[in-house]
Amino acid sequence: MSVLKRLFGWKSNWNIESHQVDKRSVPTHVAVVMDGNGRWAQSHGLPRVAGHHAGMKTVREIAITASNLGIKVLTLYAFSTENWKRPKDEVEFLMKLPQEFFPKMIDELIENNVQIRMMGIRDNLPKHTLESIDQAIERTKNNTGLILNFALNYGARKEITDGILDLIADVQAGKVEIAQINEDVIGNYLLTRDLPDPDLFIRTSGEIRLSNFMLWQCAYSELWFTDVCWPDFDSNQFIEAINKYQNRNRRFGGI
Ligand code: FPP
Repeated sequence: MSVLKRLFGWKSNWNIESHQVDKRSVPTHVAVVMDGNGRWAQSHGLPRVAGHHAGMKTVREIAITASNLGIKVLTLYAFSTENWKRPKDEVEFLMKLPQEFFPKMIDELIENNVQIRMMGIRDNLPKHTLESIDQAIERTKNNTGLILNFALNYGARKEITDGILDLIADVQAGKVEIAQINEDVIGNYLLTRDLPDPDLFIRTSGEIRLSNFMLWQCAYSELWFTDVCWPDFDSNQFIEAINKYQNRNRRFGGI
């Protein structure tokens, strides 16, 4: 992927038919930590935000590829509860991306039967960010294809803490018996309550860590890491990750 194409190109003509993917065994849910935008930009002599803008185009390519492959859920880590520590200008830039992304993408997402969702704390997100996401959620809510789930202002520890607090409140209100509490019950208090756990976890940019992303849900996910930074990540590398996943032997603790 040339830097010019990622910076200026919006439409591209990638073709997944030319790749070998057994569509019967694609992962149901893929979770992605889209890392390396800042380093990508800096390595091209650009400001960090140019990396986020280029990364938004990768979101499009990977979402359409996932939809074409028949993946049911693609969860993308777009902004963590820790990302507020970044410079104000960078945070503001990130919060404006949905306003550019959804108007440009919405027709194509609808054509592909994609349903948009958001997972995270809504409270401290700017109104303009929520408005553009909520509009996309509303317009795609009846779509039955790929669920494109943006983790925005998301952190797994916060999600688990909030879930436990809600569960305690329900125990105190007599809605749940302590003796009934098991893993399924706890799962129902998390933001992914109606989604399957990720089968495949992908992280770009060479960092080998989870960074507070879906810690409960990824207990048995297959992990795949690549040195490629998110703006350079493309459908070929995504398919490579799927191929590697298809060759893994998942045992879930058995033999
Ligand atoms: C991490 O890279 C990336 C982010 C914190 C933001 C990811 C967001 C996008 C790719 C765009 C999302 C699009 C929409 C529509 C919401 P980094 O900045 O930490 O990279 P670095 O480790 O190289 O500094």
